[in-house]
Amino acid sequence: MQFFIDTANVDEIKQAIDWGILDGVTTNPTLAAKTGKPFMEVVKEILDLVDGPVSLETVSLDVDGMVKEGRFLAELGDNVVVKIPMTKDGMKAVRILEEEGIPTNVTLVFSPSQVLIAAKAGASFISPFVGRLDDISTDGMGLIKDIRTILDNYGYETEIIAASIRHPMHVVEAAKAGSDIATIPFNVLEAMFRHPLTDIGIDRFLKDWEKVPNKPF
Ligand code: G3P
Repeated sequence: MQFFIDTANVDEIKQAIDWGILDGVTTNPTLAAKTGKPFMEVVKEILDLVDGPVSLETVSLDVDGMVKEGRFLAELGDNVVVKIPMTKDGMKAVRILEEEGIPTNVTLVFSPSQVLIAAKAGASFISPFVGRLDDISTDGMGLIKDIRTILDNYGYETEIIAASIRHPMHVVEAAKAGSDIATIPFNVLEAMFRHPLTDIGIDRFLKDWEKVPNKPF
């Protein structure tokens, strides 16, 4: 499973790279706003740091606007993926951009029918929002399972990015369901390393090591 980080915060991206576990980055307008920095400054910093796919989102709602923004974003780096919302105009823009060789990530996906349409439009990636479905008492992970089945049934190459991840078990369940990628907020990524028994075990080993005679280190 590939790990993307769901952030526009450059310090968080640097730490995830330092941990050696980062395959890509996803951003959205909310995450860009949270940085408080000029958008182009943030994007350039991210693209300087990351070799893997970096999703940057369009904000126009009409096909011409989305295609224009998508082409602009794609010019910024070979690894830019244009994030487009799941609408009729959005799917027209996906087809146009993909035919030009610009990879797209269809975002705000909440149902299997939306997935079928995005896959038919030729999207490279789809982002089902697991946490936001759970938030409204719906089975977010059930959607990931359905998507895996649907894409496999027809051999679509569209990759699943489990998005709107709230906790480590979302990542684990998405991996069990066969999601290609999870895009994970920094706090969740960090939490995935931790287990209290690991801390207790290290503490006990270090204490016992004190009792070992003639140690080489
Ligand atoms: O980037 C898209 C998605 O991961 C947003 O998550 O936490 O705003 O539902 P969230």
